[in-house]
Amino acid sequence: MKIPVLTIDGPSGAGKGTVSRALAQHLGWNYLDSGSIYRALAIACIQAKISLEDIDAVVNIAKSMQLEFVCADELQVKLAGVDITAELATEATGNIASIIAAIPVVRAILLAKQHDFQQSAGLVADGRDMGTVVFPQAEYKIYLTASATERAKRRYKQLIKKGIDANLSQITAEIEKRDQRDTERAIAPLMQADDAVYLDSSELSIVQVIDTILTLIR
Ligand code: DC
Repeated sequence: MKIPVLTIDGPSGAGKGTVSRALAQHLGWNYLDSGSIYRALAIACIQAKISLEDIDAVVNIAKSMQLEFVCADELQVKLAGVDITAELATEATGNIASIIAAIPVVRAILLAKQHDFQQSAGLVADGRDMGTVVFPQAEYKIYLTASATERAKRRYKQLIKKGIDANLSQITAEIEKRDQRDTERAIAPLMQADDAVYLDSSELSIVQVIDTILTLIR
């Protein structure tokens, strides 16, 4: 039986994570946070103290890293058996992830890991290229975005809530830089799939976004 896939792509801070998790829970579907795979690779590279310009070294780590996703109350990510969930969330990790995500071979290696998530009753896949590259045949595709200012404010609030020190203007600048890197890279850039529904969440609450998507897929 074909397992249905709902892809939710969009820039950093558009609310993809919260919306995708809630939808997966509501629908009883599996959840893929593809960004966390790139983030875990970023952490593995930092731990190995390699230069990000050493493509061969990054590729070797991408091939050999032992990643585990544990579904508890909150999604827990383990690298070689060690919980890295807290480190995954930092802006520094996100920025390094964005740099190594532009390496074509790395993307090819991480493709299989992402396909493995298409199981259970269905899959909600969140990322940048879910609807364009990883699951081009997905039944339901959303492109979720919001203005850079609104996304920076949300990210700032999230970090402060987690007790992580943050600076709004710095986050805005980083978000704009990351948008530029993710949309302008040569391979699998962030873009709306031709058959994806465009949804701007700047003026919408999380509940409104979830309801809109549920209505669309029904
Ligand atoms: O969604 P996120 O902020 O956790 O993603 C971190 C970085 O990983 C993002 O800036 C670019 C990269 N990424 C990607 O290239 N493709 C994806 N499908 C998901 C993330």
